[in-house]
Amino acid sequence: MRVMKQLSFDAVLEARLSRRAVVTAAAASAGLAACARIPTTTSDVPGPSAFNSIAARNDDAFVVAEDYRFNLIARWGDSLVTGTPGLDTSRMANTDWLTAEAVDAQHRQFGANCDAVQYFPLVNGRAARGLVCVNHEYFSGELVWQGHRGVGMRAEERKEWMSRHPHAVAFMQAAHGVAVLELQRDAAGWEHLTDSRFTRRITATTPMEISGPARGHPLMRTNADPAGERVLGTFANCSAGKTPWGTYLTSEENIDDYFAGGRTLREQGTDSAVREANRRFPLRENSFYGWDFQDPRFHLANEPHEPFRFGWMVEIDPHDPASVPRKRTALGRLQHEGANTIVGKSGHVAAYMGDDDKFEYVYKFVTRDRFDPKNHVANRDLLDNGTLYAARFDANGTGKWLPMVHDEQGPLNSRAGFANQGDVVIKARAAADLLGATPMDRPEDVEPSPVTGRIYIACTKSEDRAPEEGVDQWSGRDVEVGVNAANPRPDNRSGHIIEIHEAGDDATATSFEWNVFLLAGNPAEGRFIVDAAELTPGTLTGQDTYYAGYANRTGLSEVHCPDNLGIDPSGRLWIVSDSDNQGNPNNGCFVVPTEGPERGRLRQLASGPVGCEVCGCEFTPDGRTLFLTIQHPGEGGTLENPRSHWPDGNGLPARATLLAIEREDGATI
Ligand code: FEO
Ligand code: CA
Ligand code: CA
Repeated sequence: MRVMKQLSFDAVLEARLSRRAVVTAAAASAGLAACARIPTTTSDVPGPSAFNSIAARNDDAFVVAEDYRFNLIARWGDSLVTGTPGLDTSRMANTDWLTAEAVDAQHRQFGANCDAVQYFPLVNGRAARGLVCVNHEYFSGELVWQGHRGVGMRAEERKEWMSRHPHAVAFMQAAHGVAVLELQRDAAGWEHLTDSRFTRRITATTPMEISGPARGHPLMRTNADPAGERVLGTFANCSAGKTPWGTYLTSEENIDDYFAGGRTLREQGTDSAVREANRRFPLRENSFYGWDFQDPRFHLANEPHEPFRFGWMVEIDPHDPASVPRKRTALGRLQHEGANTIVGKSGHVAAYMGDDDKFEYVYKFVTRDRFDPKNHVANRDLLDNGTLYAARFDANGTGKWLPMVHDEQGPLNSRAGFANQGDVVIKARAAADLLGATPMDRPEDVEPSPVTGRIYIACTKSEDRAPEEGVDQWSGRDVEVGVNAANPRPDNRSGHIIEIHEAGDDATATSFEWNVFLLAGNPAEGRFIVDAAELTPGTLTGQDTYYAGYANRTGLSEVHCPDNLGIDPSGRLWIVSDSDNQGNPNNGCFVVPTEGPERGRLRQLASGPVGCEVCGCEFTPDGRTLFLTIQHPGEGGTLENPRSHWPDGNGLPARATLLAIEREDGATI
């Protein structure tokens, strides 16, 4: 194992810029010819490389296994556009820098707390070029603002801090959303191009269209948008996916942290439709970020319908910088982790989704119409029509996709509060309750494998999963909180992964078989289970581990709280982790084969710096590059008492960063 030499970021950029002319000329002559010989389809990609697992770590560094290297592509505040200055983090000892000019610049800089990354190739081969879309999920004020204490501040304390910083909300809103960058690979790794015509920032104020069944619904109408058809912005963008037609699907996850007045509305609200629509997606009385202090639409007393316009999947076309993002409401309103798509046998497209909250559900959307690989325009609105399903996992290892369709003869009828499909998608959680979906341990990424067709669900954790049957109240309804076959571990602090096999190997199927793939944790501690027959709820503890039946526990990496998943071109499952449990090592990046004798043999490729969550897990089509993002390095500290200075060092505040991993010999990862 080895710690990558930390070249100063500016030095790397400088070296690259001086090389740029040479690289461009080479690409123009030999490079493009070479591309034709470089395999680009999954089946042509050489097999994966072997590596020695790194040990779990606790230091403030990004570390990757021997024979691998990484390079930083963009840090929070880096300029994305020629002429815009980058954020100067050496000026952050006080908040004098938080000015109108800083807000303006942030609209053209890499956003905060990067999460998902998805790659859209333009040119394959060694001199590859492509677009990436990156999510900027939230803002950690305590890590960069003097005197700020993050989400833990009392409301009065926050109000006072905000009153002294009138640009804070506009700055946070500009730091949220999505970045579209054009990247280029050369001998030193990957860089983003500040002169690309594709560069774009989408923020919490970017105009977007509402499409699908909730468009124009009375609950979607506000003073600023009496038709309920257009909305400003997207935020809380967590994981993501892409469509077969080359667009990006960003998620809106913890949107409940952004609005104020929730308890007052619950206790005193007079509009029963609004109260019922909030019941299963309850909002806070005091927001986590104080946007309501400087932007009135974030207080329910002003705009009781504004929250209904968030919690959706949003489709963005990175190839068309002028395109208007569209909120695809047919996919339901949840705490969307992301959406990962695959084309079914009939040509219809399935999108798999998790609702990341305790005791929430797994969903799938299947398009009504077929994907047409030859007709980009015909695919444009495929996500507006189709069937949304919630998953029920039965104890015998089978499962059903339960159709969430308004039907006066079915359970989702007007007597139950669902007078139309708009009601169903706005109140998707309540609809899934009625159908009997299975409450899961915080389902995050749900990833179909294009190689095997199987689907993997990361249930990140739930310390509230009870050891025995029992009903408790969570998110506005009574729910069974005891262990079940698909969530078999009580006090599930390290999470697990479920594997689904759709009936007939068809992503559009309405039934499936499933099994537990991984019970995460430390296989060197607790009971190490090899026989799947022993995964019986009621017999397990939170410390027991299971690695898909792999029998040799020595040498297996420990892994806690799987969050984002990826599949490399050879079909191996990649896992990045998000554990904030005391005593666990730093989060990292792991790989596990899903087939053959090595099935379940999980190894760790990389480890993130202190306090971070590792996100991403996105590969180039040639399998030679793995993109990751490092989110919230230093979490748990403050500007005054930092835990991390990654990646800049020198006592500077830590920054969330997009990076690329490659093998030093250029082979597949
Ligand atoms: Fe933002 Fe579910 O992680
Ligand atoms: Ca996540
Ligand atoms: Ca997470």
